[in-house]
Amino acid sequence: MHKARASIGQIVVKKRIRGIGLVYKGGTNLMNDQSIINKRAWEYRAYEFWNIRDGTPMEKAKEILKDPKASLKKHQHHFESIEEMKIGNICGSNGRKAVPLSLLGADVTVFDISEENKKYALELADCANTSIDFIVGDIYDIDLSKYTEHFDILYLEGGVLHYFNDINKFMDILFSLIKLGGKLILSDFHPLKRCISSDFKYVPEYFDKNLQKGDLAYKNYFDEQEQQDFPDVSVRFFTLSEIINSVIKSGFTLQQFDEHRGWNNENIPFEFTILAKK
Ligand SMILES: C[S@@+](CC[C@H](N)C(=O)[O-])C[C@H]1O[C@@H](n2cnc3c(N)ncnc32)[C@H](O)[C@@H]1O
Repeated sequence: MHKARASIGQIVVKKRIRGIGLVYKGGTNLMNDQSIINKRAWEYRAYEFWNIRDGTPMEKAKEILKDPKASLKKHQHHFESIEEMKIGNICGSNGRKAVPLSLLGADVTVFDISEENKKYALELADCANTSIDFIVGDIYDIDLSKYTEHFDILYLEGGVLHYFNDINKFMDILFSLIKLGGKLILSDFHPLKRCISSDFKYVPEYFDKNLQKGDLAYKNYFDEQEQQDFPDVSVRFFTLSEIINSVIKSGFTLQQFDEHRGWNNENIPFEFTILAKK
């Protein structure tokens, strides 16, 4: 039996920025404004939310243990024979993908900006009798002296890219982290999806490039009164060509591009998955 272990981030500098409070930043540069806002948001009642939505770490672990591969849903086929492989789960959230990957034999490191997510993820790993590493920090600040060419696979899914205003810099970092011959599995919300409202009206904002305020993904799980206290996230949405070109420009070879229907089988593009090789 393994024990879940926490890795120590590179937290060395504290600074107070624009009334947001103490901001922790690794290295000598300051965390960028977008990441500061999103860290504050993703540390607001996240642990509580995961317990509401996914159950306690023990309950979630029992579900994952029944069939770890099933937790990977539409991406299962990308993870055949991953024993001993090093997988980096970028923005890996509460560990619900990292833990099944670890149970399937991979050596998994989650990178995510939220301490609250880390708490749930490490408890989840512990309850599932497996181990993951969890590095809390901004992806822009990953310690490249430690992680360059470190991973066989990088896995990202479900609402990640909009947290990175500089998508080319972000993709360059992903490229650095992967070994030669390694693969990138990048899945996210389809850019067309945001142009269709929930009542199927056309929302003409596809080419907007501005950084904008948005609701934290789980805000509407709380009652209206409580929702008023939720901090906003800061997001920049990308077009499909911006996403695909960032992958190509960073040096990856694009191998496959898939589009997925909605979670209720809606006949519109909800998500996409890019498979690329270094
Ligand atoms: C919507 S989740 C994506 C993962 C998963 N699909 C989910 O829904 O839980 C986005 C994750 O990105 C993390 N995040 C946001 N900005 C980040 C940054 N600059 N560096 C690292 N992680 C970040 C958040 O803490 C959150 O866990």
